[in-house]
Amino acid sequence: MSDGGAGAEIDGEIGAADPFALLATWLPANDDPARPLMTLGTRSSSGYPDARSVLLSEYDERGFYFHTDSRSRKVEDVTGDPRASLTLVWPGRQLVVQGDVSRADGDEELWAYRHRSRYLQLLAWLNTPEFAAVPLAERQARWAEFDAAHPSLDPPPTWAGYLVRPVRLTFWEGRPDTASRRTEFTREESGAWERSVRAG
Ligand SMILES: Cc1cc2nc3c(=O)[nH]c(=O)nc-3n(C[C@H](O)[C@H](O)[C@H](O)COP(=O)(O)O)c2cc1C
Repeated sequence: MSDGGAGAEIDGEIGAADPFALLATWLPANDDPARPLMTLGTRSSSGYPDARSVLLSEYDERGFYFHTDSRSRKVEDVTGDPRASLTLVWPGRQLVVQGDVSRADGDEELWAYRHRSRYLQLLAWLNTPEFAAVPLAERQARWAEFDAAHPSLDPPPTWAGYLVRPVRLTFWEGRPDTASRRTEFTREESGAWERSVRAG
């Protein structure tokens, strides 16, 4: 992914007009089981920002997908205010996205569930407030019991996918031999991307 800052930087042709071409050089393929971690920023109903880590399930030409429990606080937040941010960090690189959140379609949600590890498939079923309140030994016993009873799982009704459609993408590059720099893409009314360079 990143070379830690010693190699080529975003310049010239690459990514000149289309940030998604550039994304393909920064993000792993969607079928790579090592999923990148993102900090999802939302605005809560109190007006305070909130943030938490989520996996990037996949991305396409529309934007970035994450998956979660439909009863979660983050879902309440994006239902109240669908504007969100995503931050991904690697050695020598950072990607910050601002975008509009909408529910993913059913096929995408199913695809993402099928591509989750067995542990995360189980977690989607058992990660409830009621389960969290039970003592550890009982949580372990109930987890093992549920696991043994369900060799193959479909997504629970609370499994929910969300698409973050970017309005701004900021690619930060750090280098040991000169100042860091950002390359920013802002979506215009026409849908075209305006590209600019900013200090790091
Ligand atoms: C490494 C890591 C990955 C996580 N991935 C997800 C995820 O993909 N989806 C999710 O809903 N929560 C994920 N979580 C848990 C969230 O960070 C968070 O605790 C949970 O979703 C509840 O957030 P909320 O109350 O703001 O909705 C992850 C946590 C960690 C530490």
